[in-house]
Amino acid sequence: MVQLKNAAEIELIRESALLVSQTLAELASILKPGITTLALNQRAEEFILDQKAVPSFKNYKGYPFATCISVNDAVVHGFPTNKEIREGDLVSIDVGVYKNGFHGDSAYTFGVAPIADEHKLLMQVTRTSLLLGIDKAHVGNRVGDISFAIQDFAELKHHLGVVRELVGHGLGRQLHEDPQVPNFGKKGTGPKLKEGMVIAIEPMINLGTKDVFYDEDGWTVRTKDSKFSAHYEHTICIKKGKADVLSNFDQIMLNEKSNSHLVGDY
Ligand code: MF3
Ligand code: CO
Repeated sequence: MVQLKNAAEIELIRESALLVSQTLAELASILKPGITTLALNQRAEEFILDQKAVPSFKNYKGYPFATCISVNDAVVHGFPTNKEIREGDLVSIDVGVYKNGFHGDSAYTFGVAPIADEHKLLMQVTRTSLLLGIDKAHVGNRVGDISFAIQDFAELKHHLGVVRELVGHGLGRQLHEDPQVPNFGKKGTGPKLKEGMVIAIEPMINLGTKDVFYDEDGWTVRTKDSKFSAHYEHTICIKKGKADVLSNFDQIMLNEKSNSHLVGDY
């Protein structure tokens, strides 16, 4: 059942979502070759706890870390590890924060310079597909309108692989609520979008095949052909006319641009 949020609840979700954005911005300023994804995870966890908040993912269905850090062929739910980041890596970082009874959820993919042109394009198309999905996320449309916009751009226009096994979701008091928000589908289908619905839209787009598998840790989702994947996610609230985007990429992008180890001009 979809839980509509009132104005006060939406402001609390915004607070959590902006904390996620600040956490990602902090990671954007320290990400460079040689750092381990475990060190990034530790910094994120410290940052969240310092804000008197709790990482949503830690212990969620047994997930053992505060963040998911998915490098290269890892699509989502990557375990932070002792492996060092290298030039050319695509690093997708997904963060959830729980504060004042509400979750926020957002993800961003960073390119560690220099990166291949095809990976630059993968990041661009994935981020644009998220924004095109958000453009359709308003009262009068249905979930399928968001899904179609993402799939149409990434798959039909750019011939990239749209992951089917994992989807976006409602969120609020729970990290995952109804409705599911697939990144593929048909216009005019699915649940109606209503004012006060809060959803996370999160396209996971692969350079090659859309097919994925779980690696032996039981969590990390990888592409079957080992080609790279990108993932961007915003928490948004449905309104009349235009969605209210509760998470925010602005500071992440500023820090990305001023970090010479990251590709920020794509
Ligand atoms: N954004 C991801 C999702 O909504 C993060 C969940 S990771 C988990 O599925 F570890 F918490 F499962
Ligand atoms: Co999510």
